[in-house]
This record gives sequence, structure tokens and C-alpha cells, in this order.
Amino acid sequence: MIQCGKGLFTLHTRHTTYQMKAGAHGVLLHTYYGPRVDGCDLSYRIRYVDRGFSPNPEEAGEDRGFSLDVLPQEYSGCGMGDFRLPSLDLELPNGSRAADLRYKSFRVEPGKYALEGLPAFWGEDGETLVVVLEDAAAGVEAELYYGVLEDYDIITRAVKLINRGSAAVKVRQAASLCLDFQREDLDLITFDGKHVLERRPNRGPLLPGVRSVGSVRGSSSHQHNPFVILCEHGAGEDHGLCYGAALLYSGNFQAAAERSQFENIRLTLGIHPWHFCWTLAPGEGFTTPEAALCCSKDGLAVLSHRFHRAIRERLIRDPWAGRPRPVLINNWEATEFSFDAERLVKIAESAAPLGIELFVMDDGWFGARNSDNAGLGDWTVNGEKLPGGLEALASRIRALGMQFGLWMEPEMVNEDSALYRAHPDWALQIPGRAKVRGRQQLALDFSRREVREHIYGALKAVLSSADVSYVKWDVNRSLAAVWSAALPPERQGETYHRCVLGLYSMLEQMRRDFPHMLIEGCSGGGGRFDAGMLYYTPQIWCSDNTDAMDRLRIQYGTSFCYPVCTMGAHVSAVPNAQTGRSVSMETRGVAAMHGTFGYEMDPAEISPEERETVLRQTAFFKEHQGLIYQGDYYRLTDPFQNGPYTAWEHVSPDKREALVSVVSGPVQGGPPLRNLRLKGLDPELCYCVNGESSLPGSALMEAGWPLPMPWGDYQSWQFYLTAIS
Ligand code: DGJ
Repeated sequence: MIQCGKGLFTLHTRHTTYQMKAGAHGVLLHTYYGPRVDGCDLSYRIRYVDRGFSPNPEEAGEDRGFSLDVLPQEYSGCGMGDFRLPSLDLELPNGSRAADLRYKSFRVEPGKYALEGLPAFWGEDGETLVVVLEDAAAGVEAELYYGVLEDYDIITRAVKLINRGSAAVKVRQAASLCLDFQREDLDLITFDGKHVLERRPNRGPLLPGVRSVGSVRGSSSHQHNPFVILCEHGAGEDHGLCYGAALLYSGNFQAAAERSQFENIRLTLGIHPWHFCWTLAPGEGFTTPEAALCCSKDGLAVLSHRFHRAIRERLIRDPWAGRPRPVLINNWEATEFSFDAERLVKIAESAAPLGIELFVMDDGWFGARNSDNAGLGDWTVNGEKLPGGLEALASRIRALGMQFGLWMEPEMVNEDSALYRAHPDWALQIPGRAKVRGRQQLALDFSRREVREHIYGALKAVLSSADVSYVKWDVNRSLAAVWSAALPPERQGETYHRCVLGLYSMLEQMRRDFPHMLIEGCSGGGGRFDAGMLYYTPQIWCSDNTDAMDRLRIQYGTSFCYPVCTMGAHVSAVPNAQTGRSVSMETRGVAAMHGTFGYEMDPAEISPEERETVLRQTAFFKEHQGLIYQGDYYRLTDPFQNGPYTAWEHVSPDKREALVSVVSGPVQGGPPLRNLRLKGLDPELCYCVNGESSLPGSALMEAGWPLPMPWGDYQSWQFYLTAIS
């Protein structure tokens, strides 16, 4: 619900309230965001105090208590007396760097706004508030967009800048979100890591100054995620006030939190300002990516539930919103580049009887792609490996009762390719500087329409030549030496963002042309796992690390924002290719059921007992996929605490069903006996556990469920609960 009147704007979701007010001199002040408060102008909380070295704008006259440096801003400027984190930074033709926004007007629009060419939560049932600010000296208007997903407790934000003046203006920074808190006692949680170990939660109190994470790698990155949490020091899974902020963007980003001199906190989130400079000619506009905000006063689990539900139901689009995903097998870890049609069909033949529904042919099927040194960019089927083309293979796979899918890496090119030989300037590289290669490949300049059209034309021909149900869209390097041959020098600062827009436009085109095809995102595993990609690719390969024990941690960290149905998770062979660790098939299966379940191995190479296990796993997963994907997800333990067990739980929305998964760590002599306290059940209902014991929900939640004693390393158990009363 949106309420507007006398310069006061209040957004209500079911459990939260967000408020801003056009105050003195037209400065848009942020008055409140938090648990729901009704019927109140919350600007009474703002104090006007003369602070030394905090300057006053001219309009304030002799009022020294009015300073942009002190007041909570809704969308901060820079260079005009607010010395905290800027949201907007404009360079005018005279070389000045400043931004000073004042309230102009507002409008309310029915439905949740959409952003042309950018991902955004959708929904005709929502409402949009647009507050228009202007920087009169720059001739620039900033339209602040607010989407209210009331039932989901999500507020979205985006900013449209419009040059209403007569001279070009350079946008040096335009955040999607600025959020001022009139308190200093919050922790910041970021999700950080590296290739093969992504999204480890790191939590700490904000100290005076700025703490920021971000990416300047061209994609959202393995190293940091465009999702952060601010929470009270004592907040935990089940209690405490917490705020989450997610950026729907897959390129360079920055999330920054500042604890200022007067013990207030400002959070900004948006495109990273490094190497960003967008020229706005008169009449032109620029739209920031969308950011999504959520607040919970009941801890981190509720915060996650709200993001999960909104992502499942209002970000992922049809036909995949809420729909089951096929159990798949991928040949990459089994064969890498050494395969031909016969080898692939053998893998599929041994997989089909195990209940596996989709066969995915990974890297190596095109051009002269026999290693990762060559072939990217040449998207024609390699006739030596796949005689008869794609359909010849796809029809053999289909004859086994499986769907067929394939891998691609559209944004990249190898110098050893026909494409690069014909169009070397299509790759991003700085003239006069040495090349920077990653995995022996260069990045294509996706800011250029002709480049995208060429690549998409070739991919579309391949996808149209066979019945393809699934595509894995990969990208395997960070961008460096970025320069576009198609842009003039003064517009080079647009290249990174234009490449992301190019990526989104091609993904959208593919969705339109192949509406029933499932696209899985990937970037050397989880290097582009963000809410922006989920708008186009309903699932993303979570990590190149398929070690079950490492995966428990990676999936745990990922779960704070992203629902289980978005996490690509597969059982792979042992010893594991990344860690050398051997874990039983049972435990590998339990870990992979924390995601879009599948296999990454040759099932012909496993024992008859393991085949039986796989058969049981696929049947079990299919039976419980609805509960795993649609249920509320609870983190029962923190795997980074190195406790004896890692456990998580899915509870159906009506609380009549639950699935508890438990994995033990390295065994020790005399292990402790643990009773695992479950969550989210109905205390009044009686539950049957694995068809046997029947216990009240209150007992299972307060007194706990006795876990078996581990015998050997890395064991696993699953407990399926059904209500019997
Ligand atoms: C990186 C992906 O994460 C892997 O699963 C695999 O597809 C390789 N790329 C193929 O090059």
C-alpha cells in the first residue's frame, strides 16, 4: 500500500513500513524503514543540530541546524555538503563534480513497474510510487521508482535519470539504492569467496568509516555477491531485526556501508563507480538496475523466506516459476573434451534407467573445440564428434526417454577460432596494450549489436536444428583490458554496463524464441550467481566445486538470499575432482538435493549397489521436489562452525510435511549425542517421522529429534515428517 500526502510518502508491506518526506528546502529525507508502523509521520525522529564542519546549503540562510551532512537522505548527492557515501555523482561540461537533488513531484502508478532491458521483479498486483527529484543546476531529473510487493514484504527501487537540460552531462555514479539508518549498532553480513568456494557469510559490526564489497570483473563474481544483510548485533536465525538488500545486476557492483561521525549508517548499492561514466545527452535517460529490500524483525530465517518466495514467485518467470525441474546428467566431469556421440550415448544409456530425465552435453561439441585453447565463437556442430549433427544425437537421447540439453559460452572467443580471425576487433582489448587472457580466451564486445547478432544467429540455428530442452549458459573468465572499438573515447566508461545490457538482451531474445527451454546460468560455477541472472535463467550452477562437504557450505551461504530451486547441485564421482575427498553416494545425493538435483559422472562406472542408491535418490527427489522447492527453508546449523552435523529442513507452507537432512562431518571417538531441534512445524500437530515414531511438533521443536551416532566420516540421514492429526 502506498500513502502520499503533504510531501510524506509511506509504503506499507504486510509487515514493514518505509517512509520518506520532502522536508525543508525540498530535500527528500528518509524517515524510516523497519517493522510496520501505521498512521504516523515519522519525521519527528529527525533532529536538526548545528554540527561543526557540517556546511549549510544557501537556502538554509542562517539556519545552521540544516545540513545535508547530518540529515538522513533518501538518495544522497555529493559535492554539496554531504560528505558521506554518494548515490549520484554528476560531471557537468564545466568539469564540476556534484549532485544536489530536490523534490519536484510524485505519481502513483498501478502495477509494479518494469525496466526496459533490465531484470526486475514483476507483478500486476503491486503498485509503483515515482518520486521525481531534480538537480536544477545540472538540468537532470532523478525519478525514484519504488515497487511495493506487499504480500512478499519486498520493496524494490530503481532510479531513472533524465537530462532535461541543453548540455550533455556525465553520470559518474548512480546507485540503485541509498538507505540511511539513524543508528550505528548494526552488523554487516557479506557473502564472499573465490572460484570453487563461493558465498561464505562474513559478519562483523560496522566500525567508523566505510566497509564495501563489490566487483570490477565485469560480472557479479565469485569473490563477492550483490546481496548484503544489515542486522542487529544479536540477531540470529530466529530473532532480531535484519535488513537484506539484493541488486538485480550481473556486472560490476558496489555495496558500501558507512558508519558516519554522528553514529548513523548509510548503505548504498548499485553499479560500481570504477570505470563507469555514462554520457547523458539532452533528452536522454539512464536507468539503474533494480535493488530489492526486505526487512524482518524475526531474524534471518524469515528474511530468507521472504526473499525466497519473492524470487520463486515474482522474479523467475513462466514457465519455470514454481515448476519442477528435470533431474539431469551432465558429461563434463566424466569426459571433459574427450567425447563423441557414441561415448555420450553410452552415458545416457546407463543414466536413463536410473530415473534421470535430461542429458546435458557440456563443453566441446562445436568448432575445433578439443581443449580450452580453441573454438569459442565458432558455434557450429563439430561433425567429427557428432556425425549427422545435433539432431542425430538428440534423437538417440530422446529414444532413451530423456530430454536433451547443451552447453554454450556465447560471450567469449578464442583467438584460435574462425570468428576471431575474421573479426579481431570484436573482442574487448585495449589498443597498444598487451592482451589479458583468461582460460586462453578473450571476451566478445557484447555492447555491439552486430557482434550479438552474429553470435545469436549461429546459436539460434544450432538450437533450431534439434529438439533442445535445456541450455547451460556459461562464462569462464573475468573481464580485463576492457575497451570497445565501437565507442568513442569519452564513452568508454559505458562499455562494462553496455556489455551487461547486451547479455540481457540476448538472453531475453533466447527466452522469446525458445519459450519452453530451461536456461541454466553458470560462470565457472557460481561466478555470476545473482538476482539479475535469475530473471532470465531460473537456475544457476552453484559452484564448480562438487565436493559434497564443501557444497554444504557453499549452498548454506547461497541460501541467505536465493531459494533452493535456483541452486544447480549435482552428485559427482569420487575422489572428488576439486578436493580429492571421497564421500558416499548417499551423502553426495543428500547434499545435491539442496538444489536442482542431478549427476555429473558416468553411471556406467559405479557399482551395482551405487546404482541402486541412485535409483532410490532420483525417486525420492521427484517425490519430494515440491516440498524442497516450495517449502520454507530452515538452516538448522551453521556448517562453518565445524560442529558434528550440518542440518537443514524444508517445511511445506501448510506445515503438514517436512524434510530434514543431516550430514555428519569427520568422525571423532566418543561423539556427542545430539537432539536436533526442528523448526517451522505446527506445535499443535503430531508428526510421524519416517513412517514410525509419532511426536508432537512442540516436542520436535523444543526438545529435538535424536540424531543417530555417526560411524565413519560424512554420513547422512533424511527424516521425512508428515502430520497425522
Ligand atoms: C565451467 C563450468 O562451471 C563447468 O561445469 C563446465 O561447464 C566447464 N565450464 C566447461 O568448460
